[in-house]
Amino acid sequence: MNTFKRYFQLLLLILVTVLLLPVNGVSAKEIIRVGHNQSTNHPTHMGMEAFKEYIEENLGDKYEVQLFPSELLGTQTNMVQLTQTGAVEMTVASNSILETFNEQFQIFNLPYLFESPEVYHAVMNDPEIVGPIFEGTKDSGFVVVAWLDAGTRNFYLVKHAVENLQDLKGMKIRVQQSPTNVRMMSLLGGSATPMGFGEVYTAMQSGVIDGAENNELALTENGHGDVAKYYSYTLHQMIPDEVIVNYNFLENLNAEERTVFDEGFQILQDTQQIAWEEKVEEAIAYAKDHMGVQFNYPDIEPFREAVMPLHEEVLGNTPSLKKIYELIEAKNESMRKE
Ligand code: GCU
Repeated sequence: MNTFKRYFQLLLLILVTVLLLPVNGVSAKEIIRVGHNQSTNHPTHMGMEAFKEYIEENLGDKYEVQLFPSELLGTQTNMVQLTQTGAVEMTVASNSILETFNEQFQIFNLPYLFESPEVYHAVMNDPEIVGPIFEGTKDSGFVVVAWLDAGTRNFYLVKHAVENLQDLKGMKIRVQQSPTNVRMMSLLGGSATPMGFGEVYTAMQSGVIDGAENNELALTENGHGDVAKYYSYTLHQMIPDEVIVNYNFLENLNAEERTVFDEGFQILQDTQQIAWEEKVEEAIAYAKDHMGVQFNYPDIEPFREAVMPLHEEVLGNTPSLKKIYELIEAKNESMRKE
């Protein structure tokens, strides 16, 4: 990271901390600040509203939950840093960017890791697999308390559909700020351009990038379908969003409060995941009918083959992930449809 960026991040941290202070000062209640980067119409925000309602219904004399959507508190990377220091209590961060805070998170960023959405859900709901990763960041100041569905990631370009690897060659594609995603893009022959989610629309519109990759809600909720008219189901990743909470905040809750919060986290997760199914269907229909986006289904085998070396590379760099990888492979196998 260059000095300017560091300086800017520090400045942002101080600014947000100072801005948030008076809110605490005038309220007798303890404020729980929740940051995320989605719109208020997104399943994640719906989940957060259900969480807020539950906490305030049960512990409202002591706590007030304040929601900050749409990158109001900065990019996800900024928000994770704010959560580490406790300036923000809770944040939704894509698993992608969490790998820069703890290498164990790399595992769920591997392309074509899960053979189906069913395996993805079964893995994320298996405490034996996710437990050590979710709890393993205490030293970094936060833990993961819930995972949210972010569907499958697929390419969408401004000028043409992706039918085969040739169509990605030399294309400037926005990826999340994660080394695994940068490497994935280069194995696919494209030119990875990492940036925060909020910058993608303008970057596509101005021609800085040729396209991006994400789930279908990015087309509608973030308006990317206004600019990118070709959405290609390469199904290359299923990357969860993780809900992270400042560790000291959780530790300072008494046992009764902790129970209510744990119930609240479960309500958040369930509400988000149920809303997800419905919203994706709506987004596809809307993008087709009102935005003129064309959807296509390339043969994914060549894409899979191109990125498989990444599995070996990550397991080679981080051997502690081998056991988890084997557990996931076992799930793939046992859930494979004949
Ligand atoms: C999805 C995901 C977000 C993430 C975004 C991105 O929308 O849910 O957490 O920030 O992709 O590509 O940056």
